[in-house]
Amino acid sequence: MALPGDEPFSPSVLGTREHWDAAYERELQTFQDIGDTGEIWFGEESMVRIIRWLEKHKVPLDSSVLDIGTGNGVLLVELAKSGYTNLTGIDYSPSAIQLSEKVREKEGMSNIKLKVEDFLAPSAELSGFDICIDKGTFDAVSLDPSDAAGKRRLYVGSLGRVLKPEGFFLITSCNWTKEELLNEFREGFEILEELPTPKFCFGGRIGNSVTALVFQRKKVRPSILDKLD
Ligand SMILES: C[S@@+](CC[C@H](N)C(=O)[O-])C[C@H]1O[C@@H](n2cnc3c(N)ncnc32)[C@H](O)[C@@H]1O
Repeated sequence: MALPGDEPFSPSVLGTREHWDAAYERELQTFQDIGDTGEIWFGEESMVRIIRWLEKHKVPLDSSVLDIGTGNGVLLVELAKSGYTNLTGIDYSPSAIQLSEKVREKEGMSNIKLKVEDFLAPSAELSGFDICIDKGTFDAVSLDPSDAAGKRRLYVGSLGRVLKPEGFFLITSCNWTKEELLNEFREGFEILEELPTPKFCFGGRIGNSVTALVFQRKKVRPSILDKLD
């Protein structure tokens, strides 16, 4: 298990903006050539899992939803098709946002908001979300070749800033186990549910290659000074 300050993964180009810029530049070209939206990280089922959870918990359709590191924005399109109306996607890669804008246009979902933003340094307008979703972005941040532990701490701090108290955070990861994610998000967040993901069996060992969890941001407790007022 990763202890705070440890570097559990070898640094990788997958943790750099240059990698994602180049990857989405290629996907943008392919989209323009043949209309293919590109890679759906963790497959279609990962989107179905998220949408089913929102529906099962009767999350109102006008809830504000932020997709952190939206990539091609396909998850937001699927959420819009399911009736969600207040959707925002951010990504630090301008080519990802260009691609997601093209996908949004093709699907006729002009109400989806898209913006180039580094989640580790979010702008002030990125705040008060009811729901935050991450599919593979915390994984990418965790592979940053320069100070991944510090970047993970920045991520958790940003999440605490943009998500409302008692708001939900749905994370899908292939790098982290449930226990490790509980440790990463222990300050300010509590687990509500683990979502079932496909199991693999190898050499007699059974495990999950993907972890999907729902956290809730803890209530902000009034400080003792507030109580004295
Ligand atoms: C594995 S891809 C997942 C993309 C998308 N969520 C999906 O499921 O298809 C990781 C995404 O995170 C974005 N990303 C990584 N670090 C980021 C950061 N600090 N701020 C915003 N986006 C970031 C990358 O540009 C990339 O689009």
